[in-house]
Amino acid sequence: MSRSRFTDRTVLVTGGGSGLGRAIALAFAAEGAAVVVAGRTRTTLDETVVLAERAGGTAVAQVADVAHATDMDALVRTTVDRFGSLDVAVNNAGVFRGGQPIADLPEEDWRTLLDINVTGVLLALRAEIRQMRTQPDGGAVVNVSSNLGPHKQLPSTTAYAASKAAVSALSAGAALDHIADGVRINAVSPGASATTMSLRPGETDDDRAVRMKEESPLGRVSSTEEVAEAVLYLASDAAASVVGTDLVIDGGASL
Ligand SMILES: NC(=O)c1ccc[n+]([C@@H]2O[C@H](COP(=O)([O-])OP(=O)(O)OC[C@H]3O[C@@H](n4cnc5c(N)ncnc54)[C@H](OP(=O)(O)O)[C@@H]3O)[C@@H](O)[C@H]2O)c1
Repeated sequence: MSRSRFTDRTVLVTGGGSGLGRAIALAFAAEGAAVVVAGRTRTTLDETVVLAERAGGTAVAQVADVAHATDMDALVRTTVDRFGSLDVAVNNAGVFRGGQPIADLPEEDWRTLLDINVTGVLLALRAEIRQMRTQPDGGAVVNVSSNLGPHKQLPSTTAYAASKAAVSALSAGAALDHIADGVRINAVSPGASATTMSLRPGETDDDRAVRMKEESPLGRVSSTEEVAEAVLYLASDAAASVVGTDLVIDGGASL
């Protein structure tokens, strides 16, 4: 049975041109939402739009860099101008830097992680909440964190983990700050998922599958659709009393 939990809702997905963000955008579009996908690369965003439209959904692309406050403010403004409201926002844009112990991490990589993963989520959240708290029905936000940082540590991922621990803390704190304004904020913390980000340098999908049999209790990566399903649940009316939670989707890797 097909579902349509998001008919007449407007959904914004940052990092919607690839990986988890694309799967999340397509899942919302398949359930009736008008979806705005944002990122820095026009071509990949346009591909997501084509995929959504081919499946009968509505999507538009907007080039925006989450690290720039003016881009985030403009993104929310054009979304509302076009579709009338912002009902759901998924702050998914993020980057990985690492692969070396912390003593060998270039300062530039640290600053990039903070700019995009932390400041990017803060600036997006701020613009989204300022809009949602003016709306009679408020809104729902889901931030994409990671099991690395808030739930688990691995060698040579420390700076990325610190940035994601900040995302989880921002999510819980902002949830407390704004639930009384009708803005419901949660996070998901995926483990290794089926995107290029979880491939080690030089690794193929098959190599990763072999590695995951060893490393993950579940024995495999999460599919992008599995992560998207968790995001849609947290954004849906079924989760109306779920506030400030951080849902780990990692096949038991952080247990
Ligand atoms: N894959 C995993 O195993 C895994 C596990 C845990 C958490 N995560 C998190 O899941 C999220 C999605 O990652 P993914 O695996 O789908 O990787 P991905 O395919 O590399 O997606 C990241 C997306 O973020 C966008 N982005 C990066 N910097 C941006 C910026 N400054 N402004 C706007 N958009 C930006 C990228 O597009 P442009 O470069 O075109 O801007 C890209 O579409 C990330 O936050 C990641 O940390 C992933």
